[in-house]
Amino acid sequence: MKALEGVKILDMTHVQSGPTCTQLLAWFGADVIKVERPGVGDATRKQLVDVPGADSLYFTMLNHNKRSVTLNTKSDEGKAIFTRLIEECDVMVENFAPGALDRMGFSWEKIQEINPRMIYASVKGFGPGPYSDCKVYENVAQCAGGSASTTGMLGETPMVTGAQIGDSGTGLHLALGIVTALYQRTHSGKGQRVECAMQDSVLNLCRVKLRDQQRLKAGPLKEYSQFSEGIPFGEATPRAGNDSGGGQPGRILKCKGWENDPDAYTYFITQAAVWKNICDVIGKPEWKEDPEWATPEARLPKLNEMFGAIEDWTTTKTKFEVMEICNPLNIPVGPILSMKELAEEPSLRDTGTIVEVDHPERGAYLTVGCPIKLSDCPADVARSPLLGEHTDEILSEILGMNEDEIAAAKDVGAV
Ligand code: COA
Repeated sequence: MKALEGVKILDMTHVQSGPTCTQLLAWFGADVIKVERPGVGDATRKQLVDVPGADSLYFTMLNHNKRSVTLNTKSDEGKAIFTRLIEECDVMVENFAPGALDRMGFSWEKIQEINPRMIYASVKGFGPGPYSDCKVYENVAQCAGGSASTTGMLGETPMVTGAQIGDSGTGLHLALGIVTALYQRTHSGKGQRVECAMQDSVLNLCRVKLRDQQRLKAGPLKEYSQFSEGIPFGEATPRAGNDSGGGQPGRILKCKGWENDPDAYTYFITQAAVWKNICDVIGKPEWKEDPEWATPEARLPKLNEMFGAIEDWTTTKTKFEVMEICNPLNIPVGPILSMKELAEEPSLRDTGTIVEVDHPERGAYLTVGCPIKLSDCPADVARSPLLGEHTDEILSEILGMNEDEIAAAKDVGAV
């Protein structure tokens, strides 16, 4: 039995943030019923198409283990079916633009009236306030949540990250809110509203940068490279390049082959506890006891010189050799792995983190499996549904509609 077996989720999500959330819940065993507009479906089905006529990877990689029902929730007949689905389901998840479900006639008050046990979960760009009506996409959230202003090189343009912290990050937050509400319902018997704003989720992930904002009052942030370069701090947490966010200075350094390979780099952290090991490895044993280098405080004003010496060593080794040499000595390092390397990494295949999935329209493709491993609830990845693939099945199985009723709903364009 799966952890969330028996939980029925009415999945009104689209694009990335909401689908990330419901895909996770589906992996844990929930029955996720994706409601899509007849003939149209989730817009991502036809975005960034690589195989003509087939659902895109954008869609397939975010909608595994779900069932798809088409339903026009704006028509009277569609609304009647939708109401019955709300009665039968435990959770409803949506990430439409603000007010879209209210405009359809399904406000939170109305949903509670239909099913008081319903957990109604939403992603919006912003919480209540001046921007609550805005439509929001990933990079807007990264900018509005503090990530872009603190990412990138000092003195250069703010930068968004490749990690989809606005969309997938918010989806993760929402999934936690939903399972928490489901747990509370086991005591209270009642559903509740679960809301995650993308701005809030990004800010939550940028927590250490708000930490630094407040530390600025007490003086310069000495672990930032700009301190060692003598560049004064302004009023806000600056962009920190590849500096580590913790108290142990770290940077990305070139490795052997960097001239031709854009990913021949390693992250290298000068963990204070293993400083002597670092000195031995990089061929600077004299730095071990030298008061100019022996303590973290002594090193802070000369990070460029220190990392320069370390890089002189890392450029003589591949990023994997750096890993092999440093790991046994407890020196924290990490190779910069490309998507190609990750896709080909056998250990990620073994754990189900990278999975090959077969799809009737597009053939085999790779996806990221469930990153959360439960010992009693393996997450087997099943392909995403075709548009409306399960419409008849869901209408008859969950709502008990007979063939004639389903045909009649189709005739009026409700499904
Ligand atoms: N039947 C009938 N109509 C449907 C439907 C269905 N099954 N499913 C959706 N619709 C309608 C909605 O009711 C809405 O209609 P309305 O504008 O007349 O009220 C319309 O389709 C589209 O909704 P919308 O959410 O406005 O889509 P969009 O493509 O214009 O905007 C986003 C996309 C992502 C910007 C927007 O949904 C949003 O801001 N969402 C919240 C934040 C978010 O999740 N952003 C990240 C997405 S990864």
